[in-house]
Order: sequence, then structure tokens, then C-alpha cells
Amino acid sequence: MLHLVRRGASDSQIAVAALCTGERMVKSHVSVILTELGARDRAGAIVAATTPASRSPAVDRPCPAGIGRGTARAGSPRAPSPAVRSGGRRCEEVLGEDARVGQAVLHTARLRLLPLSDEHLEHEVELDSDPEVVRYLAGRPRSRREVEQLHRDRLAVADRVPGLGSWVGLADDEFVGWWALEPPTRPDQGPAVGQAELGYRLLRRHWRRGLASEGARELVRHGFEDLGLVRVFAETMAVNAASRATMTSVGLEYVRTFVLDVDEPLPDSEFGEVEYALMRDQWVAR
Ligand SMILES: CC(C)(COP(=O)(O)OP(=O)(O)OC[C@H]1O[C@@H](n2cnc3c(N)ncnc32)[C@H](O)[C@@H]1OP(=O)(O)O)[C@@H](O)C(=O)NCCC(=O)NCCS
Repeated sequence: MLHLVRRGASDSQIAVAALCTGERMVKSHVSVILTELGARDRAGAIVAATTPASRSPAVDRPCPAGIGRGTARAGSPRAPSPAVRSGGRRCEEVLGEDARVGQAVLHTARLRLLPLSDEHLEHEVELDSDPEVVRYLAGRPRSRREVEQLHRDRLAVADRVPGLGSWVGLADDEFVGWWALEPPTRPDQGPAVGQAELGYRLLRRHWRRGLASEGARELVRHGFEDLGLVRVFAETMAVNAASRATMTSVGLEYVRTFVLDVDEPLPDSEFGEVEYALMRDQWVAR
């Protein structure tokens, strides 16, 4: 709980995202912590808890590097986590089978979407070893080591931002790909609070079955309805027709074309990157 207090989470965010309890209960726990630490307020509690004599120093995990679509040169300091509000879901739904804090297990007609965990690493390796899958992401198959690092980055998002992260999609218990909701990482993407970037990647044998859009639609719903996001956006290379069509299919609208300053530009990057987005109000009114 102190870890979430340190990250600036409100009582309701702590309640739904981590502890699955009521806001009143969180208030009461916070007040016990303040008393035990001899602190007058939340800021005092954080200082007390993170001094060398403290009982449980809170340590933040490193920032992730996005969803693996190349590394932008101009990094930016991280803004606070997106707002996470109660959607009235049951505790086990919010926590998920995997118990990754705050990340829900989701379902669609054909897909079971589980929070990404270490047991899914081999699937990520298989995905990124297909040159067609990574054509607009890395331009070449990724080494196992690169995938391992991206895997750690994805898990770090889930650890750092309650509710957000990556989900693997299973159809008839078979892995088909992954989907993600991640906080913005660059200044030009706008505030981190209330926003998430949608991403997806499927094994080639499962393309054109409507699965990417089916999973993405559920993540958009989850983002707005359960996590209280105000804006979901997605980016891809302008020439990535399949990804653009998937964005449109789930209701995101074209926002802009821009140039991404990356270390190793991919072929066709001269056509730029595109951003699509959907506001919560638009989604509610759809
Ligand atoms: C992008 C990707 C996830 C799409 O997966 P998919 O399961 O084939 O997508 P769907 O079947 O749900 O199709 C969604 C829409 O895109 C359209 N579409 C799919 N592939 C297309 C293509 N190559 N060209 C044009 N439209 C395409 C579909 O017709 C559908 O449109 P509709 O809803 O209007 O009928 C898949 O191609 C992929 O994994 N690509 C590699 C990774 C990648 O580029 N990820 C995006 C990075 S930002």
C-alpha cells in the first residue's frame, strides 16, 4: 500500500488496483500506517518509510521502453500513472489468475486474455522470430536476448502502473498473440494520466481471422470502462496497413502523421508514423 501511496495513487485507486477492498478500508489502513510511522501525512510516511531505518523501503522498477516498436531518441521523464478507477468488478477479476497486481483477466467470444507472465516468454520469442510479424517493428527477427529484455520491459509496465500491461490471447487454449495497454512514453504523446497506448501482435497463422480487432476492442472497453482512461491511442508506421485497419476497426480515428526520430529507421519510415485515437466520450456515445 505504501508503494502505491508513494506513486501518488488515491484511496480509490489503491482500493481497486491493488487491494480489492473499499475506499473506506484503505483510508483506515493509511491512517494506521501514519500512526505506526509517526508521520503526520502521506508525504511524511513516505519519507519515514524510505529512510535507512525504515521497515519496508519502496523501490520503483525501471521504466519500460514502450511496446517494442523501435527506441525513440528523445526520452522524457515519466509522468504519474494513469488514473485507475473502480469499475465495480470482483476482486479476482481485477487481480486475475496470475495475480499480477491490478491486471485483470479478460474475455471475448473467442479469446481468453491473461496478464503476461514469464511462462509466455517462448511465445514472444516465436512471434518476434517471424520477419513478417516484426517487419514494421524491428525490420528483422529479434534475438532471444532482445525479446527477453522487451519481455522484462512489458512486465515492468504492469508492475509500475496498476491495471495496465500486456495480455496474451488464447483461443481454444492456443496462444495467438499479445495485446497491450501502456502509458505514453514520449512528450509529444501527451499526459500519462488517463491515457494508454494500445498495441497488438499476432502469430502470422492467426492473421485475418478478426482476432486482433476482437482483443483490441476488449482492451479499449477495459481501458475506458474498468480503468477509467479518458483516451486510448495507437501508433504505427504509415505503411502498416493491417495495423491501421485494426485501429479503425475498433473505433480509433486518425489523428496525425509524424516523423519518429529513431536510431535505426526502417525501410519506408520516410512515409512517417501515424497516430489514431479514441476519447472516452466518443466511445460512450458510439
Ligand atoms: C496488425 C495485426 C495485429 C492484425 O491482425 P489480424 O488478426 O489480421 O487483424 P483482424 O483480422 O482483426 O483485422 C482487423 C481489420 O484489419 C483488416 N486487415 C487485416 N490485415 C490487413 C491487411 N494486411 N491489409 C489491409 N487490411 C487488413 C481486416 O480486414 C479488418 O478490417 P475490418 O474490421 O474492416 O474487416 C497483424 O497483422 C500483426 O500481428 N502484424 C504484425 C505486428 C504489427 O504490425 N502490429 C502492429 C504494430 S503497431
